[in-house]
Amino acid sequence: MTTQLTSSSLLTDLKSRIESRTARVGIIGLGYVGLPLALLYSEQKFPVTGFDIDQKKVDTLAKGGSYIFRISPEEIQSAKSSGFSATSDYAKITEMDAIIICVPTPLNEYHEPDLSYITNTTHAVAPHLRAGQIVILESTTYPGTTEEVMIPILENENRARLKASRTSAAGDQEFWVAFSPEREDPGNTSVARHDIPKVIGGLDRQAGEIAAALYGSIFRRTVPVSSPAAAEMTKLLENIYRCVNIALVNELKMLCLRMNLNIWEIIDAAATKPFGFHPFYPGPGLGGHCIPVDPFYLSWKAKEFDFHTRFIELAGEVNLPYNVIAATISALNRQKKAINGSKVMVLGVAYKRDIDDLRESPALTIIELLQKEGAQVSYNDPYFPFVGRGRKYDLQMTRSSLDNLGQYDCVLIVTDHTDYDYKKIVNESQLVVDSRYATRGIESKKIVHC
Ligand SMILES: NC(=O)c1ccc[n+]([C@@H]2O[C@H](COP(=O)([O-])OP(=O)(O)OC[C@H]3O[C@@H](n4cnc5c(N)ncnc54)[C@H](O)[C@@H]3O)[C@@H](O)[C@H]2O)c1
Repeated sequence: MTTQLTSSSLLTDLKSRIESRTARVGIIGLGYVGLPLALLYSEQKFPVTGFDIDQKKVDTLAKGGSYIFRISPEEIQSAKSSGFSATSDYAKITEMDAIIICVPTPLNEYHEPDLSYITNTTHAVAPHLRAGQIVILESTTYPGTTEEVMIPILENENRARLKASRTSAAGDQEFWVAFSPEREDPGNTSVARHDIPKVIGGLDRQAGEIAAALYGSIFRRTVPVSSPAAAEMTKLLENIYRCVNIALVNELKMLCLRMNLNIWEIIDAAATKPFGFHPFYPGPGLGGHCIPVDPFYLSWKAKEFDFHTRFIELAGEVNLPYNVIAATISALNRQKKAINGSKVMVLGVAYKRDIDDLRESPALTIIELLQKEGAQVSYNDPYFPFVGRGRKYDLQMTRSSLDNLGQYDCVLIVTDHTDYDYKKIVNESQLVVDSRYATRGIESKKIVHC
């Protein structure tokens, strides 16, 4: 009875602090997901502390600077004046009421889930956990991660032997746990972040309620599901749906090119159907932290259940950068030029339009493949003055200007940033290979679509 009272007072206390915007929110992982989330809570006057192991990021934020293109230093400074601070000191976790984890979930070299960022973070959080806190994982991952990986570490490694609340009658030695996927679409300005409904899977009813109250203060709508695993799976369903449909439309694009049909015209026409069709667009390859990665989290987990996710594997087989190379070779060939020794300007290296994110960008593979074929490759991208080294590339290239495009044997459009003046680009170039249909509406024999 005493325990029940204590637990319900912990619950009421946390809920009322969320309502009055005095609940202290800790965001772990201040990257593309975590930093904007921290700013959203700060805008709503919550006291926010950001945690990151990257000391450079912590120092930049401390000086009121930003390292993400679409976040201005002014936004950071305004958050700081409302009490936002960043730290790498996990001891401060104890002071938080809500802890939201937004760390990376990449694939390892064997194309398997790399949960090391989640486990490292959880090991770092656990010793500082106290009763009455809520821990929410936002990183995209396979169903079961929250319950099978995160909770055992939190329970086994906290000093007070606290348990995750599973019964909706949390004792005074318990904390709450939920999973809530990040569903942001970087570069998409048509839907404001707070208008993207927030899916929430609490480990028990109370965890779901607290998480809903917390997210309900910054998102217009919350969508409760029955468990963390259901929320984890929801995010994967969304991304697998995209991945498979993008692969399908890319396959149809290849066929259309052979049949001398314009896939873009066809998609636009099909998209006029008021029901049952959602348009997906072809391109030079899958990119970003999510679409080329997340589906394989599920394929991997499915094997534990003796199940093969054949659609996912098939979608992964459509390897488009090689098609772009073949199209470039063929376009140069028609000009009686070999790829070996040709000067090629790659336009756009970000993985998609108008963003400053290079992760898994097909442009990186395309540049490497062109170089392997002996091309002299330059690039231009308004978002990247320099492309150095990443997980799977080591280019060490500096941006070239768009002056004198006529010097290149081929200008290859890989990312269709809206800043580019495509008419001017076509006018000034000898040959344009366009993998995004960025030159739509421009009539010129110099353009080759691929
Ligand atoms: N970027 C997106 O558009 C997007 C969209 C939806 C979902 N997601 C998912 O959100 C998660 C985060 O992605 P992101 O794009 O923000 O990644 P990111 O690489 O931009 O940021 C992750 C941050 O976590 C920090 N970090 C790593 N280990 C840490 C640790 N132990 N303690 C504290 N900080 C640590 C890193 O230094 C980095 O700043 C991933 O699971 C991703 O799949 C991303």
